[in-house]
Amino acid sequence: MAKLNITNFDGVYEPAEDSYLFVNHIPNLKGNILEIGCGTGLIGISLALKGNKVTAVDINPLAVEAAKSNAKNNNVDLEVVEGDMFSSLEGRIFDAIVCNPPYLPNSEDKYDDSKLALAVEGGPTGSEFTIRLLEDARNHLESQGSVYTIISSKMKEFQTSWNQEVLHEEKFFFERLRLVRFWRS
Ligand SMILES: C[S@@+](CC[C@H](N)C(=O)[O-])C[C@H]1O[C@@H](n2cnc3c(N)ncnc32)[C@H](O)[C@@H]1O
Repeated sequence: MAKLNITNFDGVYEPAEDSYLFVNHIPNLKGNILEIGCGTGLIGISLALKGNKVTAVDINPLAVEAAKSNAKNNNVDLEVVEGDMFSSLEGRIFDAIVCNPPYLPNSEDKYDDSKLALAVEGGPTGSEFTIRLLEDARNHLESQGSVYTIISSKMKEFQTSWNQEVLHEEKFFFERLRLVRFWRS
């Protein structure tokens, strides 16, 4: 794969262990891929460089600009859309959905940077963003398609009717991260 050239932008989540775990362990995907929460665009750009058609969404307008700029610098086509999860994608269906979500439980201490809070806090238990992602993904995924996401040991466990398998797991200083594939029967 061509070397990724990613620039960080103020107000945009800087790629971290979770981002690189995703890029390094996501299996080869084929077809139209949607990334929810693209940040700098690292994950979407890496998938586009492998020949996939990728649409990337972020609720943060600064991330949308960052992903567009990084896609250009990597000479790759990436459709980048501003929106709250699937809200800008009515009627569109994808072969796979990837997401490195905000997954930390909401902190009592307010972050100085509201954009950072948006990037890391997944709701009161940390799982609410992912539960909503899986629920809404049903309307935007081919029947044989899968959702690939990160599950952290910081999140509260949740029940889901999706099938799931752990593709990769790594322990870090303060959490365990899993790259998980979810699919329907
Ligand atoms: C953990 S960061 C991941 C960024 C990037 N994909 C990476 O791995 O470096 C989560 C991203 O989700 C975005 N986000 C948060 N809530 C969102 C929502 N409701 N809809 C779309 N994007 C959202 C944040 O702005 C942030 O860029």
